[in-house]
Amino acid sequence: MTGKVIVVTGGSSGMGAAMAEAFVEQGAKVGILDIAEEKGLALAKKLGKSAVYHQVDVTSKTAVEIAVNQVEDAFGPLTSFVNSAGVSEMVPFLESSEELWELTMNVNLKATFLCCQVAVTHMLQHGGGEILNMSSLSGKKASSWQTIYCASKFGVQGLTQSIAKEFADQNIRVNSICPGIVQTEMWEKLKYQYGQKRGIEPDKVMDYFKANVPMQRLVDLQDVVHSAIFLLTDKSSYLTGQSINLAGGEWME
Ligand SMILES: NC(=O)c1ccc[n+]([C@@H]2O[C@H](COP(=O)([O-])OP(=O)(O)OC[C@H]3O[C@@H](n4cnc5c(N)ncnc54)[C@H](O)[C@@H]3O)[C@@H](O)[C@H]2O)c1
Repeated sequence: MTGKVIVVTGGSSGMGAAMAEAFVEQGAKVGILDIAEEKGLALAKKLGKSAVYHQVDVTSKTAVEIAVNQVEDAFGPLTSFVNSAGVSEMVPFLESSEELWELTMNVNLKATFLCCQVAVTHMLQHGGGEILNMSSLSGKKASSWQTIYCASKFGVQGLTQSIAKEFADQNIRVNSICPGIVQTEMWEKLKYQYGQKRGIEPDKVMDYFKANVPMQRLVDLQDVVHSAIFLLTDKSSYLTGQSINLAGGEWME
C-alpha cells in the first residue's frame, strides 16, 4: 500500500483501528478520524510518523473537510477513504426511540453520505481513488430488535452502489464489507442486549453466534483487514458497487 494516503473514520477502535494499523504496516499513510480522542491519539503514537489522529465527529461535514485537508497537508493527496465509524443498539421495535433513530441514522448513514461527498470531491481533483464503507450483514438481512441499525446499513448499501455507478468512469471505486459478528468494543454492550433478547447469559452470546455460523467461528479482525486491503488496491480494480460478505457461510446473497 506504499503511496496510499488513507483516511479511516472510526479508526480509534475495533475494525477501524485494525485497518489503520495494517495499512501502516503495508506502507500507507493513515489519517484516523474519530470522536474517541484518548484511544485515537494512543494508536497514532504507536503507529509513528505514518499516522495522524484528528478528533472529528463524522456527522459534521465541515469537521471532516478540515481534517481531510490536514491529512493531505501532512501526507499528500487522498487516495482512499474508509467509513468505519458506527453505532449500534438492540432494542425492541416498539421501544425504539426517535433519539436512537436520529443518532443511528446520523452516524451510520448520513455521515457516510457526507464523508463520501468529501472523499469524492478530493479524489476527482487527484484522478481517482477508492472508498470502502463498513456495512454489515445487517445491511442485507433483517434482524428483530435491530430495525434502526438494519435500516441504516441497508441504506449504506444503497449509497455505496449509487455512488459507485455515478463515478465508475472517473476512476473512483466504491465498495462495502458486510461482516457478521466481530468481537469489538461494540459488543461489550450489545452482548447484554442480545442476551436479553434470546434469554441467554451475556457471556454465552458469542458461543451462541459461533454455533450458528457454518464455519463455526466468528469474523476475525484479520478477515476484515484482508478484505479491506483487497478492496483498496488494484487487486480489485474491476470491482465497484460490490460488497464482500464476511459471513463464514451464514449468508450468500
Ligand atoms: N462489531 C460487529 O460485529 C460489526 C459487524 C458488522 C458491521 N459493523 C460495523 O463496522 C463498523 C466498525 O464497528 P466496530 O465493531 O469496529 O465498532 P467500535 O465501537 O469498536 O468502533 C466504532 C468507532 O466509531 C467511533 N464513532 C462513533 N460515533 C462517531 C462519530 N459521530 N464520529 C466519529 N467517530 C465515531 C467510535 O468512537 C469508535 O471508535 C461500524 O460501522 C459497525 O456498525 C460491526
